Amino acid sequence: MSASKAFVVGWPIAHSRSPLIHRFWLRRNGIAGDYVAEAVPRDAIDAFLAGFRERGYLGGNVTLPHKEAAYRAASVLTPVAEKLEAANTLWLASGRLHADNTDVYGFAANLDERAPAWRNGKKALVIGAGGAARAVLQALLDSEFSEIALLNRTPARAEALARHFGGLIQAGGLKALPDALSQADLVVNATSAELHNAGELVVPWAVAKTGAVVTDLVYVPLMTPFLQSARSQGLTVVDGLGMLLHQAAPGFERWFGVRPDVDEELRALVVADLVR
Ligand code: ATR
Repeated sequence: MSASKAFVVGWPIAHSRSPLIHRFWLRRNGIAGDYVAEAVPRDAIDAFLAGFRERGYLGGNVTLPHKEAAYRAASVLTPVAEKLEAANTLWLASGRLHADNTDVYGFAANLDERAPAWRNGKKALVIGAGGAARAVLQALLDSEFSEIALLNRTPARAEALARHFGGLIQAGGLKALPDALSQADLVVNATSAELHNAGELVVPWAVAKTGAVVTDLVYVPLMTPFLQSARSQGLTVVDGLGMLLHQAAPGFERWFGVRPDVDEELRALVVADLVR
C-alpha cells in the first residue's frame, strides 16, 4: 500500500507551518505518511479540490484564501463548517468529501490550555470582523458568554457579522473600544492590523478590567505589540500559536488515525521556526 498523504493548500503557502507540525506528528507516531504544501491560486482551487483523491491524498487542510471554496466543494459539512460557511479540514469518507472547521476548536483549546479561567468570563470584546473573527465568535457563543462586543474599523462589517450570528453580539466601531474594554473579561484581536506592519491598533489598556484575558490570532511575532501592551498593564496574555497547533490535531486524526499531542516539544519546534 502506498503511504498515506495529506496536504495543506493555500495561496501563498510557502510560510505555512502546517507541514512542520504534521511531519513532526508523523515521525513521533511512527507513521509512514507525508504532508505536503500545495500552492494553488484562486482560479485553480476548484479543480484541485475536485481532483486531489486521484493524486493520492486522503484529505488536507485549507488556508487563505480558499476556506470558502473548500466549504462549497464539500458534500458533507459538520455543523460548525456550515455555520461559518468556511472549512479548513477536508477528508474523504465513503467516497464523499467531508469538511470541518477546526479553527473554533483550536481557539478554545488554546485558551483552555493557557488561561483556563477564560471560561468563567461573562463579557467578551472581539476586535475585527473578517474571516478570522467568525471562528472566534462561534467559540464564544459555544461557551458561557452573556455579552459579546464586536468592534471593527468598518462598523458595517461588524454589523453584518453580528446579524449572521444573532443573539448576544453587539456591533460597533472602534470608538466604542474604551467602553467595551472596561467591561470585558476576554479581549480578542482578530484584526490583521499588525500583520505586515499594517498599522498598530491603539488600545487604551489602562481602562481594562483587572484579570482580563487577552489573546491575539496573529502569532508572528509571538508576542505582538497588542499582547505586549496588554501584558505591560498586568493583564493575562495568550499568544495565537496554540490555536494553530490545536486546530491541526483533528485533521491529523482523521487522515492518519491517531490523535496527536499538542505539547511543549511541538511548540518549541514551531517557535524556533518562527524566529528563524
Ligand atoms: P481575516 O480573514 O484575517 O480576518 P480580513 O477578512 O481581511 O482578514 O479582515 C481583516 C480585519 O482586520 C478586518 O476586520 C479589518 O478591518 P476592516 O473591516 O475595517 O477592513 C481589520 N484591520 C486591518 N487593518 C486594520 C487596521 N490598521 N486597524 C484596524 N483594523 C484593521
